[in-house]
Amino acid sequence: MTMHNDSKSNPQNNFPKKEVKHYLQFSDLTADEYSYILSRSKWLKDKFKAYETWHPLHDRTLAMIFEKNSTRTRLSFEAGIHQLGGHAVYLNTRDTQLGRGEPVEDAAQVISRMTDIIMIRTFGQDIIERFAKNSRVPVINGLTNEYHPCQVLADIFTFTELRGSIKGKTVTWIGDANNMAYTWIQAADILDFKVHFSGPKGYQLEPSLINVKSSQCVESFEDPLEACRGADLVTTDVWTSMGFESENSERLKAFKLWMVDSNKMAVAKKDALFMHCLPAHRGEEVSAEVIDGEQSVVWQEAENRLHVQKALMEYLLCGKLN
Ligand code: CP
Ligand code: NVA
Repeated sequence: MTMHNDSKSNPQNNFPKKEVKHYLQFSDLTADEYSYILSRSKWLKDKFKAYETWHPLHDRTLAMIFEKNSTRTRLSFEAGIHQLGGHAVYLNTRDTQLGRGEPVEDAAQVISRMTDIIMIRTFGQDIIERFAKNSRVPVINGLTNEYHPCQVLADIFTFTELRGSIKGKTVTWIGDANNMAYTWIQAADILDFKVHFSGPKGYQLEPSLINVKSSQCVESFEDPLEACRGADLVTTDVWTSMGFESENSERLKAFKLWMVDSNKMAVAKKDALFMHCLPAHRGEEVSAEVIDGEQSVVWQEAENRLHVQKALMEYLLCGKLN
């Protein structure tokens, strides 16, 4: 059972009882569960567009803990829980006891006794793992240094809406071996597609973070142009992720040749899409021509955070509903 009531036979509890399920990295769900969540995202998106009310999480509370900045993640979770009939509480480390050294384990015990589901954006993956171990309710990763599963879920949903199943396709990742890159690789392993990775020397993938069953799902390329050849989707992200700001000037030099520009898009498939989780820096990791061009689907991608996270929260709390 994932709710705040200790009683196993609470008559007011209309939720199916089940073990607490967390979403800490993409590999926490199976291909079958993703298939359900993707179709449920479409169902919820259609309902949202038709202004139809759907309140499966009536009276439920989402705690959102932010140790790093955010626009999309905060907004999509806050609007999302509201649209499902629940309520969000925003907490950050600047004005809670979390920023004054209260142990993560203690915070998890307390926060999870007052709420029904928790989203955390933090630094090391170990922090969210420790939190989840001590939480009585589902914990969702809203970005860590290592992974950003909600974003890749939105990206895959976007791809599916526009091009059908991602199975067997090629996704090219150009740039930093960061939280998005590692999450794409996990997704490729589970959903059976291929990632072409290209980043400069010194910024290659760290094998211990890849965490997949088969390394066949990823191939590294020295030349970013070769990585883009034949791709169904080209995607990138900032060269300096949050928490790594002191390396910014070094990174600007190292990544210079890894900007996604029209030359790189030209060798991808004719109908290839361009995605970026945002915020973007035009003229650094992507040219304005590409991100503002016809192959770019970044606004649909950003909106889809809302729909997939609603499906995810509903699934973690209610299980499959159809
Ligand atoms: N893409 C993404 O997670 O954006 P925010 O940092 O604005 O939440
Ligand atoms: N890789 C980026 C993603 C921001 C949404 C970061 O971690 O800062």
